[in-house]
Amino acid sequence: MHQEIDLDKIDIHAEPPIEEPARQYYFMAKCRQIVKAERERLGRPLYACIQTFGCQMNARDSEKLTGILTRIGYVECETEDADFVIYNTCTVRENANNKVYGRLGYLGTLKKKNPRMIIGLCGCMMQEQTAVDKLKESYRFVNLIFGTHNIYKFAELAAAAMENSFSGQHHRGTDGMTIDIWKDTDKIVEDLPVERKYAFKSGVNIMFGCNNFCSYCIVPYVRGRERSREPGEIIREIRRLVADGVVEVMLLGQNVNSYGKNLREPVTFAQLLAEAEQIEGLERIRFMTSHPKDLSDELIAVMKKSQKICRHLHLPLQSGSSRILKKMNRCYDKEHYLALVDKIRAAIPDIALTTDIIVGFPGETGEDFAETLDVVRRVEYDSAFTFLYSKRTGTPAAAMEEQVPELEVKARFDRLLAEVQEISAKKARKLTGRTLPVLIEEKNEQDASLVTGRLDNNSVVHLPGTADMIGQICQVYLEECRGFYYIGKPVTDGNGASDKQG
Ligand code: 5AD
Ligand code: SF4
Repeated sequence: MHQEIDLDKIDIHAEPPIEEPARQYYFMAKCRQIVKAERERLGRPLYACIQTFGCQMNARDSEKLTGILTRIGYVECETEDADFVIYNTCTVRENANNKVYGRLGYLGTLKKKNPRMIIGLCGCMMQEQTAVDKLKESYRFVNLIFGTHNIYKFAELAAAAMENSFSGQHHRGTDGMTIDIWKDTDKIVEDLPVERKYAFKSGVNIMFGCNNFCSYCIVPYVRGRERSREPGEIIREIRRLVADGVVEVMLLGQNVNSYGKNLREPVTFAQLLAEAEQIEGLERIRFMTSHPKDLSDELIAVMKKSQKICRHLHLPLQSGSSRILKKMNRCYDKEHYLALVDKIRAAIPDIALTTDIIVGFPGETGEDFAETLDVVRRVEYDSAFTFLYSKRTGTPAAAMEEQVPELEVKARFDRLLAEVQEISAKKARKLTGRTLPVLIEEKNEQDASLVTGRLDNNSVVHLPGTADMIGQICQVYLEECRGFYYIGKPVTDGNGASDKQG
């Protein structure tokens, strides 16, 4: 297993290997020498801070970056007054980009105090030419810029950035900036180090990219075409994680329902789940995200039968209006969506359903919005993420006329949010008084006598407890529902007290 490769045994004076991941281990060894020298020069440890914006996919990518930074000798820290700072960016909505520029201004002031600080930017926003141009123009103190397709090359790029920076090159202009952005890739590099944020749960990429081209969405342009990992690699990774203490995995893809279609030997997502179910020691399986157009009967059947797949489905609606769904290129209409929900609920009655909804897509009328409210009331989501439509340059929707006036969009958004919150509070109350399994995730931030965990349906529960419970699944009596979370009490008898959902 490459995870155990001893970096000190790699000859960094030899030519770098061509093949991956050996090449990246070579550069890790090289970085380690540079970090060691720098540490000796300063007489203190070197700190690295990674700030993650956006989705679960980015969170997982950040764990890969942390894996490399810690292996080359940095100590991970939470704050940006560090020696290596990385922003792993998101660009799904315009405000995600603005946040990064705002934070970069602050980083610039920190770098004045610590001129040898390395600043790296990666993630979806870096796949946009305009963003990179702006950085080159106005944020020249940035050392390293790379994108989503070549994140596996981080060690190699970090070595170049460090050499540039520490040799003083960087201060001589953009030539000193290390920039490497690819348009797309068909490459998946396995077996690089990962440093998990949680010991007991982990994301697992099953596919990268998206082929759907929903007309508002920039993701297919910045994450490229769909590529699935080989099922054998995924199962091997999960087994390895379980052996290392993981009890819950979240299978990650922009559209997990089209997993495996383009493999040499095609596999369905349902087949992959069924195989993961067999892994001994694995307790919970989650996945994210499902496109309603591709959700198969086979998947519903596998979920129904499963003991491990969480009773939770995130099924983005985006709009309840068939007319708008068509303009969004979602490839389903209101009736299809509602019929799908009925089918899922008929098979798995206590499943929690969550969703994403966009308000103010170009041309959305009051009637269209009323259709969205109608679906929300009918489905009764356990929770919903609501978004103001954000115009993303380069997407078909950005060129559509009839952009909805801002005030109108805001008013609709507030109405939708109130509706969604009322429904989810009502749904949450239904579980009060039940005893259900909770995976304890962390010490409660506000109250040291409490721990915090999650139900199978992803809801948060606070209960009295101690740090040694973290990572365990406990039976918890849900005493009280406070809107979106519960206050619970551990149940100790362990037999028959549980009424596990499903
Ligand atoms: N504007 C607003 N929300 C968007 N999303 C994707 N693109 C946009 C956009 N341009 C939302 C969708 C998606 C979620 C991850 O982000 O609802 O499901
Ligand atoms: Fe964007 Fe649609 Fe792909 Fe989701 S399925 S990432 S919304 S294009």
